Amino acid sequence: MSIKLINPFDAHAHFRQGETLKNILPYTMNQFSGALGMPNITPAITSLIHLQDYMDEVLQYVDEDRFMPMFTFYLSPDLNLEELEKAWENLLFHGIKYYPKGGTTNSENGELGFENVAHILSFMQNRGIPLLVHGECPEIDGELVDDFEREARFYEYEMDALVKHFPHLKIVLEHITTREAVNFAKAYSKQVKATITPQHLLFDRRSLFNYNEATESSYTLNTKKSGIMPDFVCRPLLKHQKDVESLRNALIWQVKHGKKVFGLGTDTAYHAPEKKYCECGACGVFTAPIALELYAMAFDQIGIINHLSVFACDVMPEFYSVKNSLPAKTVILKKEPQQVKESYYGAKTPFAGQVIPWTATVVD
Ligand code: NCD
Ligand code: ZN
Repeated sequence: MSIKLINPFDAHAHFRQGETLKNILPYTMNQFSGALGMPNITPAITSLIHLQDYMDEVLQYVDEDRFMPMFTFYLSPDLNLEELEKAWENLLFHGIKYYPKGGTTNSENGELGFENVAHILSFMQNRGIPLLVHGECPEIDGELVDDFEREARFYEYEMDALVKHFPHLKIVLEHITTREAVNFAKAYSKQVKATITPQHLLFDRRSLFNYNEATESSYTLNTKKSGIMPDFVCRPLLKHQKDVESLRNALIWQVKHGKKVFGLGTDTAYHAPEKKYCECGACGVFTAPIALELYAMAFDQIGIINHLSVFACDVMPEFYSVKNSLPAKTVILKKEPQQVKESYYGAKTPFAGQVIPWTATVVD
């Protein structure tokens, strides 16, 4: 069995900075024709000068005939509308990302809700600039929200009001994990797209504690090991098996109705081992080296492997109007076993050291 992907695109990647950027960006550049880099670096990208500095930093490692890096601003009341206007006209960025304050890695500059940024959202709506949403609310009216319920609560509390106020704002619901988010995406599919990560399609929250390394999505009791598995800790957290089913059903719905609402965004989030494997370890799952193989596993399990091309190459590139400007790259996915490396710069991907059933090869 083999699947051909022409110009696969990752709509949600963490390129990182410095030595980490240099080390890990090649994995995303290898599998994808382009990727949208997130702005939660330090300092966060909240001004044009920050953006340009970061673009320069990233571009020194990129062969632009093979890979198109794309960029985002960090949603903040401090964003300057004239700068945004200029940067948008010059195609320097493709969206502005909302982070819930205190809800994930480098989110201390984020907002709780959209009140303080209404003027920016209104500008974005007028100009057609997409809002990218990390859809979780860590807190409502000063009350801490249960970590596993943050996404569902966010869609109830924030998003209905947002689309009512801004009915023409283009929105991407990033890394969705729950039935609530799926339903929201379907209900507002005129103005909304949603990305899904490989980990949220393959694993449920049992992987956080007792992971028996099943490749066919069946969990068995691990009688030898039971403990925290830091490699599976990310925001939003892995959810209940029922939520995984909701994501899988969303894809089946998309295939059945010929829709383009749900697309590929890995949220690949490398962390150095000393930040990840420690007390209060960082959140993020690193998937870049085998991202397409992981999606192939999930799509194969769901029985929709032929839909992977639409999900990976059409939905988000069309939304960002880059479908015809991505550099040419053809990837063949074959159902041939592959041994996954033990680690990459000290970080483990899912299935590290094990054999997975799919192999991606860049042929052109
Ligand atoms: C991301 C990171 O490490 O930058 N972590 C994560 O768990 N997904 C931040 C984010 O996308 O929320
Ligand atoms: Zn992310």
